Amino acid sequence: MKIRDPKTFHVKSFGCQMNVYDGGRMTDLLEAEGLTAATEPESADLVVLNTCHIREKAAEKVYSDIGRLMKRGEKGAQPMIAVAGCVAQAEGSEITRRAPGVDIVVGPQAYHRLPELVAKARQGKSALDTDMPLISKFGVLPKRRGQGPCAFLTVQEGCDKFCTYCVVPYTRGAEVSRPREAILDEARALVEMGAREIILLGQNVNAWQGGLDALIRDLDALPGLQRIRYTTSHPNDMSEGLIRAHAEVGKLMPYLHLPVQSGSDRVLRAMNRSHSVAGYVEVIERVRAARPDIAISGDFIVGFPGETEAEFEETLELVAAVNYAQAYSFKYSARPGTPAAEMDGQVPDDVKAERLQRLQALLNAQQLAFNRGTLGKRTTVLLERAGRKPGQLVGKSPWLQSVHLETAAQIGDVVEVEIVGAGPNSLAGAELVRAAA
Ligand code: SAH
Ligand code: SF4
Ligand code: F3S
Repeated sequence: MKIRDPKTFHVKSFGCQMNVYDGGRMTDLLEAEGLTAATEPESADLVVLNTCHIREKAAEKVYSDIGRLMKRGEKGAQPMIAVAGCVAQAEGSEITRRAPGVDIVVGPQAYHRLPELVAKARQGKSALDTDMPLISKFGVLPKRRGQGPCAFLTVQEGCDKFCTYCVVPYTRGAEVSRPREAILDEARALVEMGAREIILLGQNVNAWQGGLDALIRDLDALPGLQRIRYTTSHPNDMSEGLIRAHAEVGKLMPYLHLPVQSGSDRVLRAMNRSHSVAGYVEVIERVRAARPDIAISGDFIVGFPGETEAEFEETLELVAAVNYAQAYSFKYSARPGTPAAEMDGQVPDDVKAERLQRLQALLNAQQLAFNRGTLGKRTTVLLERAGRKPGQLVGKSPWLQSVHLETAAQIGDVVEVEIVGAGPNSLAGAELVRAAA
């Protein structure tokens, strides 16, 4: 039996931070429609699969998830199923053709219409919306509801850069910036609901039209807000003003995620990255001059079509030269519809796997060294969640490291700590007792 009149829902997000942000906004929308978030996701009446298409087998995983949800119908009621996110955009009606049990397909620029789509599905009609309307969804989304200490805030969406391996320009559409006032209104509402840190999001967040540094300075003036971060940036859009903000804006955290993908200029050209290795290194040097303690993070792709062993070694050399605090690295995955998928010289998987292993060994060693370098430092931690042991809370250092500590403070508080332990993935802190005033 199929559920036609859902009362509870569950949104499952698979992708990047913007995808997680969208999942939160879909939750707001469904709650505004009178549905409640299911306490047990496994038995929700409506399941929204908020998908990602960036890497291999993304679509396959979605189909197997759908299959699992369909099986629920054998034992009891089969949920209403919505496929949202970037796979929905890329696959469109192919999804309902392959999986007729899916009731709703909705793309990342159309999810503000989710309530209408649910209404259609209630009547047993199939509901598909992968439009990229000119009027942005942001103007019509309901107010945001619950909020923890760290809040995502999308300020810019889409991408015009068309790196030859990437699906984002196709699934998210053209670059669009939200207006300053709408962003500041949302930021104020988030702080009122308890946010202490705001993470500005965009596929090319530093291409925000009004100048991201100006927006960061506006947020710096927001009472109650303690920390500002932004991600993801493109090397070509690191303006002088944004670099200066890292020296001047107190609430802007010393962390920069700046993907480079490869250390070979030939590969960068084939990727259509529009920056060189030297240009990237120069940006990093300028940022470090402005903020010497900044933690640098990056993204890397190994085994891009035609990548030789020597070109891969150039990536290792770049990593050695930059010295990353953290990084994400991936095997190249041919994405249907992208130019790189059609290129000659596709690299065999075992070669990609071997290169990835070597790259990650180096990146992991750098991350551990960075973490150990903070031993003995006195710094601040924004408490985000309960730890495993009683009395223990976990938060983030300014450099985005997870810090575990025992404290009587509350989630959402910023506490002063000394770093007393450092592992590959997290730190231990000891709270400093503040002298009585
Ligand atoms: N807009 C950001 C993030 C894009 S997606 C940027 O330009 O950096 C996040 C990361 O996924 C990319 O930086 C890239 O490292 C990786 N990625 C994207 N497409 C990929 C593909 N086809 N195969 C492997 N990794 C990919
Ligand atoms: Fe994809 Fe390149 Fe755009 Fe980043 S800049 S989203 S990698 S096309
Ligand atoms: Fe994935 Fe779409 Fe984000 S493809 S990485 S969810 S923009």
